Amino acid sequence: MEKKKILVTGGAGYIGSHTVVELHEAGYEPVIIDNFSNSKESALDGITAITGQQFRCYRVDCTNAAAMREVFEQEPGLEGVIHFAAYKAVGESVEKPLEYYHNNVGSLVALLQVMREFNVTNLVFSSSCTVYGIPENLPVTEQTPVQKANSPYGNTKKICEEILSDVAQSASTLRSIALRYFNPIGAHPSAKIGELPLGVPNNLVPFITQTAAGIREQLTIFGEDYDTADGTCVRDYVHVVDLAKAHVTAVERLLEAKGDKIEFFNVGTGSGNTVLEAVQAFERATGVKVNYKVGPRRAGDVPKIYADVTKATEVLGFRTNSTLEEAMKSAWDWQLSLQDSVTNV
Ligand code: WQD
Repeated sequence: MEKKKILVTGGAGYIGSHTVVELHEAGYEPVIIDNFSNSKESALDGITAITGQQFRCYRVDCTNAAAMREVFEQEPGLEGVIHFAAYKAVGESVEKPLEYYHNNVGSLVALLQVMREFNVTNLVFSSSCTVYGIPENLPVTEQTPVQKANSPYGNTKKICEEILSDVAQSASTLRSIALRYFNPIGAHPSAKIGELPLGVPNNLVPFITQTAAGIREQLTIFGEDYDTADGTCVRDYVHVVDLAKAHVTAVERLLEAKGDKIEFFNVGTGSGNTVLEAVQAFERATGVKVNYKVGPRRAGDVPKIYADVTKATEVLGFRTNSTLEEAMKSAWDWQLSLQDSVTNV
């Protein structure tokens, strides 16, 4: 039987590459688009090493509708699209808001226009728990009110969700699922793909692994005076492979034409851990100590957020298959594999 073809924008990126692998495992044929602005071609080699397949990859910027159109022409019969391609650094978005609006909002609009032209009607969109702002009640459900974003990056996710809602209200045949990610961490168990931050990492786990590896001198924990068990911020750290699988089940749901024209799902584990607990979990999982100090709070950090994942569990069959320690171990194995290769240096 012909495999169903799914276009994955940002398919060479962190979550995208893991999703390409899971799509293949589930019997789909992924086709990748990436402009490699925040990813490396070595991710494609990692995908090939895991799957034994070389998937077609188009070096295209998703804001370029004409170039996107050419991809759709060359790839007839696309059944759906998973749209990861976006900028994602909160701090940078404050410095360069126009770049963020152009890239993140512009690429979604261009993609939706081209999808409409080619009558491709299924879309999974990468959203974020950042749309909840600082929530009043925890855990957050999909009914928790969306709040004003506290960065241009967060606002692009909120605006993109609104665009999808507006399209759903219209006569459009588009069906979409927005997955609101909590904090994706870890790497594929093969250690062939993982997170590849360019430059100094913004996110906690790559900073931990690079510090443990001696690439960074010291981790700074941003604040220990929050109203939490140990004073450090609480997050919901979800293994990237579990998150990748949620995209596959979301695609399946769209292809079966189940549910409303637009649906939102939280994808986390359902439990929160403090930054200190995350560091300790890394140390326990790997036996490697992390040199850290406590510094001041980071501007814009949400003190505490974690997901209620009942909806994803019941509707998408979402499951958390690994513990925080296992996720940390996989991140460390990936870090070690980078040191063995020349790609990261
Ligand atoms: C986690 C915790 C930090 C680095 C952001 C986006 C979100 C999502 C993921 C896309 C916080 C603390 C971090 C460090 C630290 N999107 N920390 N020292 O801010 O929860 O979420 O990234 O990428 O939309 O908002 O993730 O990994 O930056 O931070 O103490 O060197 O670790 O203060 O409490 P965050 P993070």
